[in-house]
Amino acid sequence: MQRSILTLITLFVLTTAAQAADGPTTERGKELFGSASLGTNGRSCAVCHPDGKDLQDVGDNDDKTLAKITNQCIVKALKGKALTDGSPDMSSLIMYMKSVGGNKSK
Ligand code: HEC
Repeated sequence: MQRSILTLITLFVLTTAAQAADGPTTERGKELFGSASLGTNGRSCAVCHPDGKDLQDVGDNDDKTLAKITNQCIVKALKGKALTDGSPDMSSLIMYMKSVGGNKSK
């Protein structure tokens, strides 16, 4: 009995750790933002938005709108594939943009 409880706790801790490793973070967003991996033309978001250029008002949008604009920039400016709304990559990008862009509405 005690052993099965221990097994459950261990499983819980391992799953949580795995999720944290794959979860959205500002750091991960920063890496994506500066990397050409989101597109196919060798460009990154940072090419056009160095130091958060044009992103000062991102805090005025909700995450759904931001995801939409982000995907427009990925598809049109980077010739990449749109990210899934709410995916760790998309959430990370949004977290990073908010961290550099300010957040007027809050
Ligand atoms: C080829 C240049 C270019 C690239 C590369 C680019 N963008 Fe943009 N982006 C723009 C332009 C131009 C605008 C419109 C700026 C404005 O509204 O004044 C814009 C607007 C945005 C906005 C809306 C800002 C606002 O508050 O209105 C977001 C968010 C954004 N880009 C995110 C990204 C992300 C994330 C990437 C990388 C996946 C990216 N952009 C790559 C040119 C680019």
